[in-house]
Amino acid sequence: METFITIIRESHSGVRWLVVLLGLIIIIKHSIGWAMKSEYSALDRRLVSIFSAVFGIQFLLGLLMTVLYLITGRFVMATSGAHLVIMLIAFFVAMRTSKWKNAEGVIPFRNNVIALVIAGLLIYVGVLGLPVGWSI
Ligand code: HEM
Repeated sequence: METFITIIRESHSGVRWLVVLLGLIIIIKHSIGWAMKSEYSALDRRLVSIFSAVFGIQFLLGLLMTVLYLITGRFVMATSGAHLVIMLIAFFVAMRTSKWKNAEGVIPFRNNVIALVIAGLLIYVGVLGLPVGWSI
């Protein structure tokens, strides 16, 4: 059980950097597309799909962590609970990105940048509140 929890925790801890990296790439690329009023491309759609898939994996690992932490008495309401709630909101906000993929003009760029900046701030705060915080 201990080894399994360690594997899931390390995976959840590591996948965060993929979420952060992909989120930053999309924010930068979409901001440029928004400023230059570019055509929303297949690459933009692909990046958002990859980000959603990676965040989905992080979400499932997080839910598994929640169950494992609850059944082994590790779940601390003030820190684990706050992280859980903040991340569920961040996940909901980040998943809005699929809503506008077929919208006209700069709307997908603009809305995705806004959604991902809000989700990014929530993720920053949600990890900061954990005992381990942003340390590697
Ligand atoms: C989407 C829903 C998520 C759920 C349900 C969730 C759940 C959890 C839980 C229960 C813990 C253990 C808390 C504790 O140590 O007391 C945890 C730890 C952690 N989570 Fe999440 N999480 C989610 C999303 C995220 C996201 C998006 C990130 C970062 C991008 C993230 C990064 C971390 C980190 C770095 C830890 C500490 C791991 C360690 O102790 O080494 N989580 N998460």
